[in-house]
Amino acid sequence: MNQKNSLGLNKCFLDLEDPFELFEKWFLEAKKKEINDPNALALGTASKDGIPAVRMVLLKGFDKNGFIFYTNLNSQKGNEIKENPKATMCFHWKSLLRQIRISGSLKQVSNETADKYYNSRAYDSRIGAWASRQSSVLNSRDSLLKTLDEFKKKYNNKEKVPRPDHWSGFNLEPSSIEFWLDGENRIHERLKYSLGKNNIWTRSLLSP
Ligand SMILES: Cc1cc2nc3c(=O)[nH]c(=O)nc-3n(C[C@H](O)[C@H](O)[C@H](O)COP(=O)(O)O)c2cc1C
Repeated sequence: MNQKNSLGLNKCFLDLEDPFELFEKWFLEAKKKEINDPNALALGTASKDGIPAVRMVLLKGFDKNGFIFYTNLNSQKGNEIKENPKATMCFHWKSLLRQIRISGSLKQVSNETADKYYNSRAYDSRIGAWASRQSSVLNSRDSLLKTLDEFKKKYNNKEKVPRPDHWSGFNLEPSSIEFWLDGENRIHERLKYSLGKNNIWTRSLLSP
């Protein structure tokens, strides 16, 4: 007989009061099983008029304060976040038949945090952050390649490429985190953690 947790869910949901702990356990399993990019997530934002947009980004850090990704602040998502910091993340780990949805509010990370991550990136990626005006219309591929070369000349010391002001990270401070497991005949298992005003997480089962 399959083991269940105290709510009658598959044992992979464990019995934790803290959703970050459960996220960490599931993420560790995804890192072992997913062929590539277990840290890839769909990021949903919306303009101030409520027009939604979604795209993939990579999770580059998480702890009890939230979930961090990095990007160009002047990109479409960057501009949307300036107008409306509410956002949502969705991980889908096909190898585990699991999904996690996280909703909350985004805050830009500190310069120190952004510098630390930026400086850990490969030289070409750091140059790319300078050369790409992410999400703006490009006249030609060649013009981008030329700009890349120009920045390589400007910052030819690989140890000293400053982080552009237009490039940083965002931390999603969650107000809810939902864990989903594929079930037979689409009778999936869903566990939602919601953050109350008292800063305490409560758990609810959701209908599939
Ligand atoms: C697997 C994957 C990971 C990606 N990771 C990032 C990322 O961490 N940061 C980023 O800015 N774009 C990333 N991208 C590109 C974005 O999906 C998107 O094309 C880009 O950020 C522009 O989005 P925007 O126009 O909505 O701002 C990734 C794309 C894929 C497919």
